[in-house]
Amino acid sequence: MGEIHPKILSSLKEMGEIHPKPHAILLPYPLQGHVIPFIHLATKLASNGFIISFVITEAVHHQITKSRNQTNHYKEGGGSIFAEARKSGLDIRYAIVSDGFPLGFDRSLNHDQFFEGIVHVFSAHVDEIVGKLVHSDTPVNCLVSDTFYVFASPIAKKYNLVNISFWTEPALVFTLYYHMDLLRINGHYDNCDKREDIITYIPGVESIKPTDLTSYLQTDPTTVVHRLITKAFVAIRNSDFVISNTIDELEPQIISALQENISFYSIGPTVPTGLTKSSVPMSMWSESDCSQWLDTKPKGSVLYISFGSYAHTSKHDIVEIAHGLLLSEVNFVWVLRPDIVSSEETDYLPTGYDQLIECRGTIVPWCSQTAVLSHPAIEGFLTHCGWNSILESIWSSVPMICYPLLTDQFTNRKLVVDDWKIGVNLHNERRVTREEVAENIRCVMSGKSSDRFKQEIKKVKKTLENALAMGGSSQKNLEQFTRYVKKKIRKIQ
Ligand code: UDX
Repeated sequence: MGEIHPKILSSLKEMGEIHPKPHAILLPYPLQGHVIPFIHLATKLASNGFIISFVITEAVHHQITKSRNQTNHYKEGGGSIFAEARKSGLDIRYAIVSDGFPLGFDRSLNHDQFFEGIVHVFSAHVDEIVGKLVHSDTPVNCLVSDTFYVFASPIAKKYNLVNISFWTEPALVFTLYYHMDLLRINGHYDNCDKREDIITYIPGVESIKPTDLTSYLQTDPTTVVHRLITKAFVAIRNSDFVISNTIDELEPQIISALQENISFYSIGPTVPTGLTKSSVPMSMWSESDCSQWLDTKPKGSVLYISFGSYAHTSKHDIVEIAHGLLLSEVNFVWVLRPDIVSSEETDYLPTGYDQLIECRGTIVPWCSQTAVLSHPAIEGFLTHCGWNSILESIWSSVPMICYPLLTDQFTNRKLVVDDWKIGVNLHNERRVTREEVAENIRCVMSGKSSDRFKQEIKKVKKTLENALAMGGSSQKNLEQFTRYVKKKIRKIQ
């Protein structure tokens, strides 16, 4: 192609037809379940013509690089986790920032102190690094930050950046927080005489039981997380765009109702089509390789169990699940983080459990979940209902047994079991029993019920595929979002 004449070039620039690539700072919340979708988002935006500066906390950087160096399939290194992605042509830069705590500080054990630090100390470090990046050789235009960062709006305003909020959970959860005041006024939240009837007044949500609200909306607003969520959903009203890791067709009424008030774009799922292995290491713990063990098991004979990266459960439930697995007689891969009960209680399995399971099961502290889920031996997933886990399970057409523990997981469970009918509830009472565990495993892994779940999940998977295909809703939303961001950049700069 020939050169464009300078005069034509300058008039095209004036008309806004040609302009440099938008440069976005991406700022993930420093927890595994947020870092993963942010990494996928970075790749997606960079593939769509953005320059990305990925800002990560020193603690998360340290954990990812340490686990990468212990995992065989990644090259050793201490630099950018995007080194391989950059080689493939994506302009993803990398910056490390302090969260205000020393590396050795136990962020999980001192959870509330850590969250307070995020709001009051980390925010100052973010302000400083954004300032540096803004004044660097490649001017920055946008700040894409996790919705939970209450301080993003003033920082974006200070540096004249387009303020984009990335919501890593489903739209249903977003809208419940967005309409927290309605829940309060109607006595379903923050009320000493809490109502227990079905909620029917949230725009776009036909009905939802109070027990399906997020854990924070079921408890009194006394913790630092409650404060953070309340402030975040006031601040969201100042953002220019909200992008979400969901799909229009999965939550149509909720998303339409939200769009009456805010610029909300579903661009999910951010995880690559078909769960293709990413060149970017993202695990914060070293991954045990389960593939050889899985290769020895017949197709469709293994249950995968994981409770995600963050929530804890009781020793009672672990013991009941352990016995339920034995009663069910299925093969299983069980991810048990050493701190699953607490950092101080690490002896939680029944005595001699290793011998009892013989070669039927393998227990690991962490694995490549996407690799396990996409193995043909896997037939069911006993999950805590983290949103990333649900999307990954759908990609792999693996029906779920739902065992929500915290935060959005109760609401996500409603979508899986009640709305999309691609899973069952592990239990209805507060305490899990081994018999219920075994019964639900059988329901998802064998017989007619299993076939029904598989049929339904294949339909939902197709919805995901269609959304990402050429002309699909997520693909079109991403294009439109990019266009509007560029327009907004021209307007404010
Ligand atoms: C929590 C929330 O529950 C979730 O909905 C929210 O979006 C983020 O915070 P988490 O407990 O981390 O998330 O669960 P989940 O959202 O499922 O994310 C866990 C991620 O870690 C998944 O992407 C999963 O593939 C990965 N993982 C988990 C592994 O790679 N290996 C494992 O052994 C377990």
